[in-house]
Amino acid sequence: MASAVIKFSAILFFVAVCAADVSEFAGGPPPVTEVCLGCICQATSGCKKGLTCEGDACGLFRITWAYWADAGKPTIRGQSPDDPDAYPNCTNDPYCAALAVQGYMRKFAQDCNGDGQIDCYDYMAIHKKGGYGCVGELPFNYVNVFNQCVGRRRQIRRLTHSN
Ligand SMILES: *[C@@H]1O[C@H](CO)[C@@H](O)[C@H](O)[C@H]1NC(C)=O
Repeated sequence: MASAVIKFSAILFFVAVCAADVSEFAGGPPPVTEVCLGCICQATSGCKKGLTCEGDACGLFRITWAYWADAGKPTIRGQSPDDPDAYPNCTNDPYCAALAVQGYMRKFAQDCNGDGQIDCYDYMAIHKKGGYGCVGELPFNYVNVFNQCVGRRRQIRRLTHSN
């Protein structure tokens, strides 16, 4: 699980370096940390490389057209958001898909579980249930994989900081 997060970070980094011309996406600092993105990715799709469009969702984050539109329609290589393939091209690209998640969370950030803060748990809930209904039950397996991923990550941090 932890290695999946690291793998995802590596993919992101690699893609970021190779696609420095991904259209700049405005709106302040990204709300979701890379670790959090990695764990949402893991819970959503197993974060397996090579995922494409299936049903109404595309890519590692299984992003729908409506989600991508709410995210502000980020695109790759300066493509026009009005191009018919702008949506699949972005959401099947790990870096652009991550931008879409950031854009979506920037728009819908809220305290879904009522614990007084907006954190990765809330982003995970928003990603699954959408910005208009993130309160309440989530699929068991989704949360389970997410918790394992986040927990593993904490453990690594503890081990690294212990000496
Ligand atoms: C979008 O994807 C299509 C199909 O894979 C590809 O032919 C096209 O070049 C892509 N557009 C951009 C701007 O990368």
